[in-house]
Amino acid sequence: MLKIEGMGANYGAFKVLHDISLDVADGETVVTVGPNGAGKTTLLRVISGLLKPTSGAIYFDNQRVDGKEPYEIVDIGISVVPEGGRLFPRLTVYDNLKAGSYTKRSRREFKQSLDEIFSSFPILKARQSQIAGSLSGGERQMLAIARTLMSRPKLVMFDEVSSGLAPKVVTNLFELVKRIKSQGYSILMVEQNVRKAIELADHAYLMGSGRLQFHGNKEDFIQSPHIKKAYLGI
Ligand SMILES: Nc1ncnc2c1ncn2[C@@H]1O[C@H](COP(=O)(O)OP(=O)(O)O)[C@@H](O)[C@H]1O
Ligand SMILES: [Mg+2]
Repeated sequence: MLKIEGMGANYGAFKVLHDISLDVADGETVVTVGPNGAGKTTLLRVISGLLKPTSGAIYFDNQRVDGKEPYEIVDIGISVVPEGGRLFPRLTVYDNLKAGSYTKRSRREFKQSLDEIFSSFPILKARQSQIAGSLSGGERQMLAIARTLMSRPKLVMFDEVSSGLAPKVVTNLFELVKRIKSQGYSILMVEQNVRKAIELADHAYLMGSGRLQFHGNKEDFIQSPHIKKAYLGI
């Protein structure tokens, strides 16, 4: 589904991603973990078309997509839940959801998407006229996820879905991601919360200093001495 080959990216003269090769198969959940500053958000920005890569190639459903504009990327089925959600806090829940279905394709299917979202997120239905900024932290992040789904993606990318939230809320959000996974979406998550993220992963990558340093299926990843020691504390 998503295939990245030898991709590099810069911020100005600063080389931030080096030779990134990563795959997400159809229906698979891939997790990329790594410390702050590793390049995780930048990776998602490049896939989203917000930052042009300086080398390599990105394919989605066998179509070359690097070089496309962000709205084109959303239109072909890749959407991100940005870190912190980035809602419109002064708009209602409903208007935030509406903002998520802004491409031609998703606008056509707005009503159907809204019905689906309201049946899987009854809280959002009940609060649809409420101002997004008045929701709790967990509800805001739920709304951010729902808004992303309104664009009708095939691949959903999550940037630190639970950052800055209380442990109980974190657990609920990971449960929500699990539910989204079970609905057949392909998922690419970038995370500092290694423990929680690995539970959901089919494959995992370790990223450090702008490079992918290790890759394996869930079991190999958990068993790797380096991951055990540095990230799982066992
Ligand atoms: N807009 C930017 N301009 C210049 N450098 C940036 C910018 N955003 C991030 N960086 C740098 O790029 C590197 C990777 O950052 P980022 O992708 O945000 O890492 P992560 O999401 O893993 O914490 C860091 O060294 C960071 O300081
Ligand atoms: Mg980040």
